[in-house]
Amino acid sequence: MTSTVLPATHPLNSDTASSWLVSAYRGERPPVTPVWFMRQAGRSLPEYRELRVGRRMLDACLDPDLAAEITLQPVRRHGVDAAVFFSDIVVPLKLAGVPVEIQSGVGPVFPAPLDTPESVAALIAEHPPESLETALEPIRAAVAKTVAGLRLLQGARDPLIGFAGAPFTLAAYLVAGRPSKDHLAARSMVHRHPDAWARLLDWCAELSGRFLRAQVLAGASAVQLFDSWAGSLPAAIYTAHVAPSSAKTFDAVRDLTDEAGRRVPLVHFAVGAGELYGVLDLDVDCIGVDWRTPLDEASRRMPSGPAVQGNLDPALLGAPWPVLRDAIDEVLRRGEAAPGHVFNLGHGVPPSADPEVLTRIVDHVHSR
Ligand code: CP3
Repeated sequence: MTSTVLPATHPLNSDTASSWLVSAYRGERPPVTPVWFMRQAGRSLPEYRELRVGRRMLDACLDPDLAAEITLQPVRRHGVDAAVFFSDIVVPLKLAGVPVEIQSGVGPVFPAPLDTPESVAALIAEHPPESLETALEPIRAAVAKTVAGLRLLQGARDPLIGFAGAPFTLAAYLVAGRPSKDHLAARSMVHRHPDAWARLLDWCAELSGRFLRAQVLAGASAVQLFDSWAGSLPAAIYTAHVAPSSAKTFDAVRDLTDEAGRRVPLVHFAVGAGELYGVLDLDVDCIGVDWRTPLDEASRRMPSGPAVQGNLDPALLGAPWPVLRDAIDEVLRRGEAAPGHVFNLGHGVPPSADPEVLTRIVDHVHSR
């Protein structure tokens, strides 16, 4: 693959090149373990709830000033070592013109389920991925504003992490039309209509890939692919019917390098993936681990030796401080088994989390 060098003005060529986050993703051991939280921007913050009053989730994602401000809020408040772009995994679908809404307390909802070869063919014909290129403009603008905002903060070297939903997780919503517990509709389609399934995943990969590439070109310094529902799959099905599309999503940014020829760090995160750690490394730099598997054990199951990210159980956020502190120390100790470690929760910040507890976690990780 021929590489594409990011411009001199890109943060990876200046401010974020030596950041703790980027070096830990590259398998190094910076002086301090970097920390950020999945879903750090969002309902746990009163300043977020205030900004969202009267605005729908997806409208907020497509307003560059608002999306940038929401992305910066937790960085200012907690002093985390990275911003994660405020958006949603369904944003590229919305930008491609697919009718979708995010219902509060429910999640992404599509008007019609999509579980036949005919409905998949119609979806793809009506929504060509190329149409995304102009539609992505508000995303590019929001990323550029966020990066400009990060440069004004103390230290001026916090990276922005871009992200996308993995094709399987997107397809699980599309096929069922709404969130489901067991993802049976999607998992059945793999077997009933394997060709339509492959075409659907490939189309999702095109959209997620373009969404990721736009974020990196606009200034993101790393990318994370979220496969929230991959844990519902046996490893053999994952490898045969899902992994190629997730690899394709990463391929959309693999060629992008800094001036020293180092690629943009790639992070892969799946929930409930204890059975999958041996097959999740699609030539990535870091694998996110959920709260179920201790980091040293997860790392042993990853033959290629990537860095790890995680994995404090969000259930500990309400525990008395000595209990929480011991759990943080245990995560840090087990994380030493991997070449690099980025501290995080094992899944997103719950809306009920006390923000002061999150700040205290950051301070504690930094003090170690
Ligand atoms: O991590 C961050 O701070 C970045 C922002 C982010 C959001 N969604 C904002 C959001 C990220 C990375 C996501 C990813 C996402 N969205 C995933 C994958 C990660 C995971 O948690 O497993 C999934 C499965 C979705 C789909 C989705 N969007 C769900 C299930 C929900 C929750 C619905 C609800 O109300 O409980 C959303 C909405 C959503 N995405 C919110 C936020 C801040 C809450 C909406 C609100 O504030 O009204």
